[in-house]
Parts: sequence; C-alpha cells; structure tokens
Amino acid sequence: MKDQYKNKILIVDDSMDNLDLIEDMLNDEGYEDIICVMSAREAYEKLKSSDIDLIILDIMMPGINGIEACRCIKANESYKDIPIIIATAKVDLETLKEGFDAGANDYIRKPIVNDIELLSRVKNALKLKASMDKYKELAENLDEKVRQELEKNRFKEQLLMHQSKMASMGEMIGNIAHQWRQPLSALSLSVQKVKMLHEKDKLDAQILKQATEKSLMLIERMSGTIDDFMGFFRQNKVRTPFDVQSAIEETLTLLDASLQHNCIEYDFIKSDGKIVVEGHKGEFSQVILNILSNAKDILKERKIKNPKIEIEVSLDEENVTIEIKDNGGGVPVEIIDRIFEPYFTTKEEGKGTGIGLYMSKVIIEKNMGGGVGVRNEENGALFWIKLPYKAL
Ligand SMILES: Nc1ncnc2c1ncn2[C@@H]1O[C@H](COP(=O)(O)OP(=O)(O)OP(=O)(O)O)[C@@H](O)[C@H]1O
Ligand SMILES: [Mg+2]
Repeated sequence: MKDQYKNKILIVDDSMDNLDLIEDMLNDEGYEDIICVMSAREAYEKLKSSDIDLIILDIMMPGINGIEACRCIKANESYKDIPIIIATAKVDLETLKEGFDAGANDYIRKPIVNDIELLSRVKNALKLKASMDKYKELAENLDEKVRQELEKNRFKEQLLMHQSKMASMGEMIGNIAHQWRQPLSALSLSVQKVKMLHEKDKLDAQILKQATEKSLMLIERMSGTIDDFMGFFRQNKVRTPFDVQSAIEETLTLLDASLQHNCIEYDFIKSDGKIVVEGHKGEFSQVILNILSNAKDILKERKIKNPKIEIEVSLDEENVTIEIKDNGGGVPVEIIDRIFEPYFTTKEEGKGTGIGLYMSKVIIEKNMGGGVGVRNEENGALFWIKLPYKAL
C-alpha cells in the first residue's frame, strides 16, 4: 500500500486535461489533498482560504500568466515560503531564468509523460516546505523563550536593585545613628546643664542665650545629616552630569562618624579641578558606599591594627580612575573571581546579602559605561572604577 500524505497541493493550469493528469499522478502516489484551479486569480483565492504546502503552476495561462503569479505570491509575506514548481513547455534557459527570478523553486517539463520527474520534484519541494515550517516554528519558539528570559532577567535585576537599595538604606541608617551620637549627647548635656543651673538659681540670661544657641546649632547639624541622607536616596530620573570628587566627598561625610567610631583612618587623594561624569549621582554614591562599607566590614572582622582606607582619583586622557584601597589583608584568591557575582558573600547569614558588589558592577558598567574590578595589593584589596569623563 502507498503512503498517505497530508500535504495540501494546489495545481494551477488553464487546461482541464493537464489538471486531471497531474492530480491522478499525485493521487496514485498517495497525495489526497489536492486543489485544482484554472487561473492565477482563483489560485490567490485558494491561498487565502487554505494552508497550501506546494503550488504547481503553469506558466502559459491567459490573463495573469504563471511568471507574474509566481512573483506576486513570493512577494507576499504570508505565502513566500510556499514552494512553487513551474510547469513549462518551453525549457529554454531564458524561460527558466525568468521563472527562477520570479521566485520559483523548481520546474517540470510539459507535457508530463512520466510521473517519476513530477513525483521526485514534488517530494523535494515538500521536504523543503517541511524544513521551512520547522525552522519557522523554532524561530518563533526561540523568540518567545528569549522574550521570557529577558523579562525574567529584567525582573531579577529590578528586584536586586531594590534589595541593594534597601541594604544601603539600612547601612545609612546605621551611619546616621553614628553621626547623631555626638551632637545628641552634647544636646542632652546642654539641657541638663540649664536644668541644673536653674535649680541652683544660677541661670542668668547670658548662660541661657549661650545654651540655646548651642542647642540650635547642634539641632541644625543633626537636621543637616537628614538632608544629606535624603539627597543620597533621591533618584534623578535622567542621567545628569555630576562631579565625581564631590560625590565621593559627600559619601565620605555620611560615613565619617561611623569610620571614626571604628577608628578607621581614611585619606582622600584628589585630582585637580572638576571631573564630570554622566549618570545617576545617587547610584554612583551607592557604589562608593558599597566598596567603603565592605572595606570597613573586613577591617573590623579581621581586627586589623591601624585600619586605613585610601581613596585616590587619577586621570588619563579619556578616563577617570577611582581606587579604593584598604589594609585588611585582601580578598582570598579562591574567591576573588566570584565576589562580583550576585548573592556571593562570605558573611554569616543576616549580615550580608552578597549583592553589594554585583549591583555596583551593574551600575558602573551598564548605567555609566565604565568598568570596575579588584586586585590584591601588598596589604589589602584595591577596588578600582574607571569611567569616561569630561574635564571642566
Ligand atoms: N575590601 C575587601 N577585602 C576583602 N574581601 C572583600 C572586600 N570587599 C568585598 N570582599 C568580599 O566580597 C564579598 C562580596 O561582597 P558584596 O559587597 O558583594 O557582598 P557582602 O558585602 O557580603 O553583602 P552585602 O550585600 O551586604 O554588601 C564579601 O562577602 C567579601 O568576602
Ligand atoms: Mg557589601
């Protein structure tokens, strides 16, 4: 028994005899789903209404001839992948070239005297169609997969960005606490002093004025810390130029009390003039804060004597380089290649999320077009950031 094929074949020929002959040959081979039409116009109608796998198209037809019809079909996005076999009585090179130029995939000679030529060409053309369909399906699936993956990644990135912001927010609250400790106790002393003098009846106008002024000054300082803190987290919607060195200085101011509290000495070696880079200042400050906090953590954890952090800004013709160096003993070589990976941390649970450096890399590379990395120096780790700049 012959195989049965499910392919739908459209035969276009203005001669009934030809249509019958081709249809019979195909039927005998097992192709059952055959549509016969007698003009290009009808062929077009059929293309619209059914899923055709192959077209056998006569060239010499009244009205729209086979070459024109072929050109039209191949120009249509929906039909261009349907293979077309042109049937021609003239097999001179000129006619064949015209047919192939119009987009035909193959040809058969008329009159069709035996079925071998027809059937093998039909088989080949259908094979081509099947692989085109498969390829299209794969491409569509791939598109969808890529879209899904991108969506997933975008979500992950947003989540990480949010987590990392929350982490630095926690860090900053800790810093505010340090920053407030000193003025808060001074304020408390001042109030107690006023109370005590009043009780002893020794409070005169002069002392009261001094105490009030001092208290107001302390309150102003504390409120300034809050302003700095707010500025740190305010996100500009657009990338705006800002001065790298002032951004580093502001971040250091926020960290100052906390570093002092841990007896960590720091040194900021600046370059001359303004060094302007493009990006979100808040994000950049977050990067500096991440690196400085990591250094602080290591110095504390390893109980380093005379702990020190050095920040140095230098320039070449195109880039500004920021180096942040500590004397905490460096990153162990086994993990140095992994510390920028998301969720990589050596801190105990609850103390670190491992996204600080990952987020810093995303901000510097993706959002600011720069680079960031680490190497171990003699006494500790050196984190570097390279950014394109404009000198002012
Ligand atoms: N200055 C440094 N010296 C030595 N190791 C460091 C230094 N900075 C970072 N590391 C190592 O890199 C790891 C990853 O740092 P990262 O900032 O990404 O995460 P984390 O500090 O552990 O957690 P968090 O998300 O809270 O920042 C740290 O756990 C630490 O092992
Ligand atoms: Mg960290």
